[in-house]
Amino acid sequence: MIPIANPELGEQEADRVSSVMESGMLADGDEVRAFEREFADYCGVERGVATSNGTTALHAALEALEIGAGDCVLTTPFSFVATANAIRHAGATPVFADIDPTTYNLAPAVARETATRTDVDAILVVHLYGLPAEMDALADLAADLEVPLIEDCAQAHGATYRGDRVGSLGDAACFSFYPTKNMTTGEGGIVLTDRHEVADRAERYVDHGRTDDGTHATLGHNFRMTNLAAAIGRAQLERLPRFVDRRRENAARLSDGLGGTELSLPAEPEYARHVYHQYTVRVPDRHAVRDHLADHDIGAGVYYATPIHEEPAYDDVAHDAPVAERAAAEVLSLPVHPNVSPDEIDRIAEVIADYAA
Ligand SMILES: Cc1ncc(COP(=O)(O)O)c(C=O)c1O
Repeated sequence: MIPIANPELGEQEADRVSSVMESGMLADGDEVRAFEREFADYCGVERGVATSNGTTALHAALEALEIGAGDCVLTTPFSFVATANAIRHAGATPVFADIDPTTYNLAPAVARETATRTDVDAILVVHLYGLPAEMDALADLAADLEVPLIEDCAQAHGATYRGDRVGSLGDAACFSFYPTKNMTTGEGGIVLTDRHEVADRAERYVDHGRTDDGTHATLGHNFRMTNLAAAIGRAQLERLPRFVDRRRENAARLSDGLGGTELSLPAEPEYARHVYHQYTVRVPDRHAVRDHLADHDIGAGVYYATPIHEEPAYDDVAHDAPVAERAAAEVLSLPVHPNVSPDEIDRIAEVIADYAA
């Protein structure tokens, strides 16, 4: 079986985890501090605050930006549900704006139009599948509205927008290091920001509001990362450039192989360097194609079959997003992770071409 995801872990990770185990300092500590610095440096950002996962990173970032009860956060309906859940966990309300049909990311014109109808206190943009959103237009909108711009980079480690790494493009950014992501810490996440007061508040929030003098001045959570997770992350970060190159090579080869078919292939606009967390095509009879791939031992995934506003937990949020709804009915993601070989990519393309013929 060629799985849709398969994290690559090796001796580097094992060695670093062993050192942490020998030190006996398993929870928050020096390894986490080193990972925060190294990941923030990689993205070209001043500060990093590591968290227990990507959802808690989003929650902590919103709290640190003082977004909460009574606030509305403009975001995409076409993402993992965690994006909107974090807004609600912070006490705010998500306001969905429809996506662009080729990039699957927030459509800036729709976002601007949505903001004329509803008060917006922050914008939370997702770089879906590893493709950066149209950040210039969204940053202009955030500046016009005088609200913070937050990036959900859970799927986009190493992607660039006009040459700058995602994570460095707004007031704060959040990553996930779940095992299916482009790099992992097991479970884990991080908040990045150049704004020191925001980083300070995030640091306190993830540690029960604890201040340097050991008092607890504000409410917080235990959203801390462990040294064990950070040890894996430091080794993975060293390998991230190769992981990204392998995904991009696999994606390019798959696009060549699928060129003659009727499928809509992923776009890579001139402003973006896509990192292909998912290689997602559109195909009207996706269930049949998925079954056909499974018959040939090829895994495929659907991200996401239900746009967030149509999830039962969001019944109280009235919204229409026809472009996201249509995408949800047609998208299918194919394996391009670093462990898929060129021969396997060719086989995936052949199996799909056979089906289409
Ligand atoms: C776009 C997006 N946002 C947020 C998350 C939440 O991350 P985590 O699963 O680490 O909580 C994920 C990952 O699952 C994601 O894909």
